[in-house]
Amino acid sequence: MQTLMNKRVLLGVTGGIAAYKSAELIRRLQDQGAQVRVVMTRASTEFITPLTLQALSQHPVHTELLDAETESAMGHIELARWADLVLVAPATTNFIAQIAGGHGSDLLTTLCLAAECPLAIAPAMNQAMWGNASTQQNCNLLTQRGIRLFGPAEGLQACGEEGSGRLLDVDAIVTQTRELFDTGILAGKHVVITAGPTREAIDPVRFISNHSSGKQGYALATAALEAGAKVTLITGPTSIAPPERANTIGVTSASEMFDAVQRSLEEADIFIGVAAVADYRPVNVSEQKIKKSAAPSNSSVTLELVENPDIIQSVANQDHRPFTIGFAAETDNVIEHAKNKLVSKNLDMIVANDVSETEFGFNSDQNHTTVLWPNRSEELPAMSKAAISSRIIELVAETIGENNG
Ligand code: CTP
Repeated sequence: MQTLMNKRVLLGVTGGIAAYKSAELIRRLQDQGAQVRVVMTRASTEFITPLTLQALSQHPVHTELLDAETESAMGHIELARWADLVLVAPATTNFIAQIAGGHGSDLLTTLCLAAECPLAIAPAMNQAMWGNASTQQNCNLLTQRGIRLFGPAEGLQACGEEGSGRLLDVDAIVTQTRELFDTGILAGKHVVITAGPTREAIDPVRFISNHSSGKQGYALATAALEAGAKVTLITGPTSIAPPERANTIGVTSASEMFDAVQRSLEEADIFIGVAAVADYRPVNVSEQKIKKSAAPSNSSVTLELVENPDIIQSVANQDHRPFTIGFAAETDNVIEHAKNKLVSKNLDMIVANDVSETEFGFNSDQNHTTVLWPNRSEELPAMSKAAISSRIIELVAETIGENNG
């Protein structure tokens, strides 16, 4: 099972002998489904070449803060925003001191200051340096600020000495990385999520559908799993793999999605409607392929459509309704339309996103959203769909807590 599916890990490598282990770390993170980009300090390039880490990560390795070429590919602020986690392994005592002091003296330290996602640091240094009072003080400061320390481990060191300060085993770093994403805030809850498009058949070879990729719904399913929930994912046809720990039910049309949702609702505590459900379906589905020659002589055809059931509205209007969250993909008057849907569909929360911006929305990996409740709203900065999903799940858990409190 891939436990870091689609997580974006920005791996920072600093200049110590353990830097060679970053090559193995990239591979192990990728084995778990993570996407890895690498930033190296200049000193680390003395221990392992950027080319090696570039070949393994399959992306350019960033080393310089002011490098016109790499900045044009992905600037340092963009890189910080891209990440779901910045993991610095190995982290030298000098790097730790820089971060503790809030310095942005090179690309990696600047990124650590700019990143809004979690930061984890795996120290690796000589045992005396690790035991040094200023290193210890700096590490305490980092922990107080919510930065996670992975290790260090004890044992024989590259310098021949024995003690604490070795880089944690690569497998242990991967395990702690996964644990960092597991929050448990929805433990014991059953979350039902709809995702992807629906397809409404016209005849055996044609259908009406939309551009939904399923990425946002699948990312929410992953975030709900990380929060400890049991997840039923009811999905229209997509080209991406659903999270393995979810109970995935594949459907094609809106009517099939409606039926699958009704069957899954009994034990549902939370329902999240992310699917881009087709609002209409053809009244008549031809059993045979419709021939062009059957069209009237003026070369135009008319397709009569009938409305599909509104899945989320039917969920929200049940007697024992789950906490219900909708999504509103809009191209204009985004907040106003989303607010109207929140009220008319009787939802507890709605997530509005502007799909007119081409870098966001349906097929993109990023999203720019605003979360609305009946009495307030919160704009989320542009983030990866994984990071947005984690934040939405946090907000869902908080709101359920407030309602029960
Ligand atoms: N939704 C649903 N069933 C439908 C249509 C929409 O469950 N038949 C859900 C979507 O999953 C989403 C929310 O309703 O959570 C808003 O979907 P959207 O397509 O934006 O809303 P519509 O009501 O279809 O409004 P419009 O197409 O006019 O924007």
